Amino acid sequence: MTSQSRNPVRLAPSILSADFANLGAAVAAAEDAGADLIHVDVMDGQFVPNISIGPAVVGAVKRHTSLPLDVHLMISTPERYVADFSSAGADYITVHAEATHHLHRLLQSVRESGAKVGLALNPLTPLAVLEGALGYLDLALIMSVDPGFGGQEFIGGSVSRIEAARRMRDRINPNCLIEVDGGINLRTAPLAAAAGADILVAGSAVYGGGASVRENIAELRAAISGAD
Ligand code: DX5
Ligand code: ZN
Repeated sequence: MTSQSRNPVRLAPSILSADFANLGAAVAAAEDAGADLIHVDVMDGQFVPNISIGPAVVGAVKRHTSLPLDVHLMISTPERYVADFSSAGADYITVHAEATHHLHRLLQSVRESGAKVGLALNPLTPLAVLEGALGYLDLALIMSVDPGFGGQEFIGGSVSRIEAARRMRDRINPNCLIEVDGGINLRTAPLAAAAGADILVAGSAVYGGGASVRENIAELRAAISGAD
């Protein structure tokens, strides 16, 4: 894909890998380093094994950044909490197709909450679900790991899913952004960007390791420049 044909790929650091006792500093560091969105992973111990954070923390983070909050709900029956996350300051609310029996109604309730509407698909969920939903979406999140934990390895088959989602998006709803989440690092970020991603989520590649958030973000940007 040529750089003339699209906007630069956006980076969304995931605070799941940040120091939870210093989230204000973590989001400020990402913003100072040129991040485009802040990705907030919400886990309930039921849809995924892990438990992370809730609306109160989203509200607290909101007060420390002017970047859009990209809230990824890895929770069962997310319809129960859409209003709470929207009120807390979520700019995007992304729900999982696998987490509800009533996806159409759920997507409508996110829209009515005032937040932008995102839909996430687990690695083996058929893309036909996305095809049906695309007309309702601002963001389509292709999971490149099984959700639940940071620091997992990128599933190789995700590349062809990103390419297919990108073609679908171009055909059905060109305004919908394609986001990729899980195992994004200096090796996989260029693959996801070249496959057509608009937004890359990165947790451990931004907040892990010995280097600073600024250095990590600069390295990711360098890795994807040219791939997009
Ligand atoms: C995984 C989460 C991801 C996670 C990514 O369930 O949805 O957003 O924070 O972490 P890395 O980038 O370390 O794979
Ligand atoms: Zn996520």
